[in-house]
Amino acid sequence: MANKTWWKESVVYQIYPRSFNDTNGDGIGDLKGITEKLDYLKDLGIDVIWLSPVYQSPNDDNGYDISDYRKIMTEFGTMEDWDELLEQMHTREMKLMMDLVVNHSSDEHEWFQQSRQSKDNPYRDYYIWRAGKEGKEPNNWESIFSGSAWKYDEQTNEYFLHLFSKKQPDLNWENPKVRQEVYDLMKFWLDKGIDGFRMDVINLISKVPGLPDGKTHEGKKYASGADFYMNGPRIHEFLQEMNKEVLSKYDVMTVGEMPGVDTEQAQLYTGEDRQELNMVFQFEHMDLDSGPSGKWELKPLTLQDLKFTFTKWQKGLENDGWNSLYLNNHDQPRMVSRFGDDGEYWLESAKMLATFLHMLQGTPYIYQGEEIGMTNVHFDSIDDYQDIETLNMYREKLEEGNDPKDIMRSIYVKGRDNARTPMQWDDSENAGFTAGTPWLKVNPNYNEINADRQVNDVNSIFHYYKRLIQLRKENEIVVYGTYDLLLPDHPTIYAYTRTLGAEKLLVILNFSKEASNFELPSECHYQSKELFISNYEVDEAESINRIELKPYEARVYKLKV
Ligand code: NOJ
Repeated sequence: MANKTWWKESVVYQIYPRSFNDTNGDGIGDLKGITEKLDYLKDLGIDVIWLSPVYQSPNDDNGYDISDYRKIMTEFGTMEDWDELLEQMHTREMKLMMDLVVNHSSDEHEWFQQSRQSKDNPYRDYYIWRAGKEGKEPNNWESIFSGSAWKYDEQTNEYFLHLFSKKQPDLNWENPKVRQEVYDLMKFWLDKGIDGFRMDVINLISKVPGLPDGKTHEGKKYASGADFYMNGPRIHEFLQEMNKEVLSKYDVMTVGEMPGVDTEQAQLYTGEDRQELNMVFQFEHMDLDSGPSGKWELKPLTLQDLKFTFTKWQKGLENDGWNSLYLNNHDQPRMVSRFGDDGEYWLESAKMLATFLHMLQGTPYIYQGEEIGMTNVHFDSIDDYQDIETLNMYREKLEEGNDPKDIMRSIYVKGRDNARTPMQWDDSENAGFTAGTPWLKVNPNYNEINADRQVNDVNSIFHYYKRLIQLRKENEIVVYGTYDLLLPDHPTIYAYTRTLGAEKLLVILNFSKEASNFELPSECHYQSKELFISNYEVDEAESINRIELKPYEARVYKLKV
């Protein structure tokens, strides 16, 4: 069994502050709004809150472009509001994980303002500057937000690297001074009492020296050049240094966001004796419904692929390392729309997906609104969208001659604003999110889907999440049990077991809107069974050797073996 730690046993809730709860009527969520909702989260059973960035930022990428790492974004409130939030969380025995965005800063950060002044400025090497090549960009790398990853700066006649927007210049981690600055700012927040960091695209910080041209543009999954900055040559050295200098001195939880990471690499990042991170956010299951050219190329998802990927990660990290578990976040579509059914079987499929995720081995992350089954949104006009990735892509595809209807279709399925529409608190105007005009329109379905209604309905998705979280707290097997896949070839049922000592959990999930027949595999012996949780009413005496599962039915049994 894996070593026991608090962060393995925790359930994390991600807050995207801009869209969570607005208390001053400016249409933008704020810190006071979070404090106001702590009892709601405590009631749900949350142990840890991951707060997306709340630092000072010009908001080119909604706070993921930081201009001062030690200040609070004006729209979100003051440092006093933040202190109060932390205190109120700790009073309720909840922990706070802050977002650490240090692959890049904002171009409005003082370091970059200095850096662009002259080639001999002491801050020049804080960023990645290169001369052009034959009047063009230094290499062919593309920005993850479309276009070239380089921006020309007239002042010094050189280009700087930005893997994300033009206002997010990449920091130069080869420079020891940059690393020291990062460690200092981490200590600043840790000394204020926070309990961990979620690290933004942290496996992109080490670039291959020489910054060679990326491979051809055909059939690529990631932007051109990604091979030369994902999991780069010095990444483990940098993380080990960060661990030694900072993390090892505090009892904290860390999760590194890592596009393009595989299970072997994840073992290195999260292995217990490696002194790097606790867990990573991997992307393999987020890429299963994308074609070869990346996320905007829509491809149907198959259950086989989902089983294969999750099983690979469950088995890959079962002896060393640890999984994070998520089906959506602020960058991804809503999980019930993507993996379930946001129409007829909205309630059942949202509960089924929750069962799936919370019964896996790892630390579950709930994204705000997931616990009430919030869905994707379809705005008619591109003008109602705000996300820089979406807007850049729209412009680029339009210029390439694509049909706007096709582009909108991909935005409906994959756009990040699906996750960013304001939290639906109740059925009052603007879903109770704000008394003003929300920065991004509210999903019109808030009359039916809102927290108030679900808190008052014991059969709601909210109450189902509460039970799942409670079960984790009362049963070690949910946290530490070993995962094994059953029925690998079944086209509609995903079934697996978790084993700890003489106990087993049998998890049976119908991933389809049709009824599906489950037959217990002969190798699955048991002495006695007990229903653990289910999303339909179940007759406890019913045999489990054969079950006709209803649409999106989920059942978990606890077996004595
Ligand atoms: C990943 C974050 O989750 C995303 O929201 C952001 O746009 C990029 N990193 C750049 O910071």
